[in-house]
Order: sequence, then C-alpha cells, then structure tokens
Amino acid sequence: MNRPIGFLDSGVGGLTVVKEAMRQLPNESIIYIGDNARCPYGPRSVEEIVTFTNQMVDFLLTKDIKLLVIACNTATAVALDEIKQRVSIPVIGVIQPGARAGNKYTKNGKIGVLGTEGTIKSGVYLDNLLQKNKDLDIISLACPAFVPLVESQQYDTPLAKKIVAETLAPIKNKGLDTVILGCTHYPLLRETVQKILGQSVKLIDSGQETISDVSILLDYNDIAKMSDDPSPKVRQFYTTGSPELFKNIADDWLAEPIEVSRVTIDTLEKIQRQMEEG
Ligand code: DGL
Repeated sequence: MNRPIGFLDSGVGGLTVVKEAMRQLPNESIIYIGDNARCPYGPRSVEEIVTFTNQMVDFLLTKDIKLLVIACNTATAVALDEIKQRVSIPVIGVIQPGARAGNKYTKNGKIGVLGTEGTIKSGVYLDNLLQKNKDLDIISLACPAFVPLVESQQYDTPLAKKIVAETLAPIKNKGLDTVILGCTHYPLLRETVQKILGQSVKLIDSGQETISDVSILLDYNDIAKMSDDPSPKVRQFYTTGSPELFKNIADDWLAEPIEVSRVTIDTLEKIQRQMEEG
C-alpha cells in the first residue's frame, strides 16, 4: 500500500528515526513535520506539548498517512495514549521500543535513561522498564542543553563536547552497562556521548528500535509497500521553522538530499479548527 507513513517531532530529532526508516523500509513513502519554531518541547508544560503535538497529527492526517510515528520522546510521554484513542490508523511512539531494547541489552541490570526534562519528569521510561523487570537499577538524567545544540547544528563542535561531558558527569562510573538515548535528537550527539561514557556502555537509539516495531506493525496490518509496487514513493518534509537550517541538518544526517517546505503555525491552527468542526 503506497500511502505514506507520517512522522512528527518538535524539530530535527525525528530525522534520526526517519534515517532508520529509509534504511529498513526503503519502499515506504514518508511525510515528516518538525515543529522547529516551537522547539524545544522538553521544558514546556504538558498542555502545550499535547496541543502542539495534536496540531501536527492533524496536519499529517490531511496527507492521508497510513501509520503515525510519534518520533519524539517528549510528545510520546505525554500525548501517545490520547492520540491512539483519537485516530483510526496505527500509532506508535518511541518510548516502549526504547525501553524494551534497554531491558534486552542490559546484562548487569543497571540502565541509564537520558531525556528531556519533560520525558524524565513523566517517569514513562521508568514505568515501562520496571513493568517488565522490577529488579532493574535505573538512573534517569535530564539533559536540557542537548536539544538546543542539535537544533543549532552545533553537535560536532568543542562546545558540544564540553556540554556533553559536564551533563553526563553524574552518571559516569556508576556501573551502567546500557544507556538509553531517550530523545530522538540525541543520536546526533552519539559519538560524543559514547566517548564520554566509554566504549563498554551500550547506547540504545530509541528511534532505531522503533522502526523494527513499525515494520512489524506494517506486516501485521497488511499495509506495507512491497518492492514490486511500481507507484513512486513520496518524501515530503515540513517545518514550522527555517527550511534552510532544517535542510542543512537533514543533508548532513540523511543519506539522500531532501526537499523541505515551510508550514506556518497559523496553518496548523487552522487545520486543527477545521478538524474539530468536522
Ligand atoms: N526530539 C525530542 C524528544 O525525543 C524533543 C526534544 C525537545 O523538543 O525538547 O524528546
């Protein structure tokens, strides 16, 4: 089935999930929206995150998506359940797959969770991990300085190395064998995080894990696009912020160049009102 898969994030972070989708599911059409103008979501109130996320969901629904990926841990933490109830297509967030992978890879039961303030405050990773294995020893750490570094394309700079080292100091040498990158922006800082924590620590990319689940969901619902389907695939990227900055980061991160269009917050609000009015 050649209807697209929809992805949303507060900004460019969801591209780390899309990158994995392009690798594992190259036949699939993709529509992405990043709310860069209102990023970061991490420090925002639950009400704001829920409202903004729902606006992006409505936008993606106008594009006739067949499956929705909430490619943002912060939005998943506070809005996934509500969105699942509201829409009629399959919806998947990034937290359950990330937590499942953490539980799978740890050998000594000591897991670190890195995330935004919103994600860590929600306790959703902790709940997911402990529901599967109540004996896990978990340290959660909010890393509020990471997303602004990524959004301003400074992930590969001496400043990034300094900030990552300072932020992760409290969890270094605590015997963690597995650390979950519980924010889809963080894989862009992965090399630096790995250097600081040491090569023996297994880093889990929650987005990467999510695409394995998306693949299962597509098969389960019999909606995957097969290699012998001749219809052309679509790749559309939208941002509420600067298309140029978005494209610079996307070109740096993804294997193929993409087209980026701007969608205004006014447009998102208008679509939301139209959807509410039915
Ligand atoms: N990419 C995001 C996440 O996975 C959001 C970060 C933010 O906007 O603070 O949580």
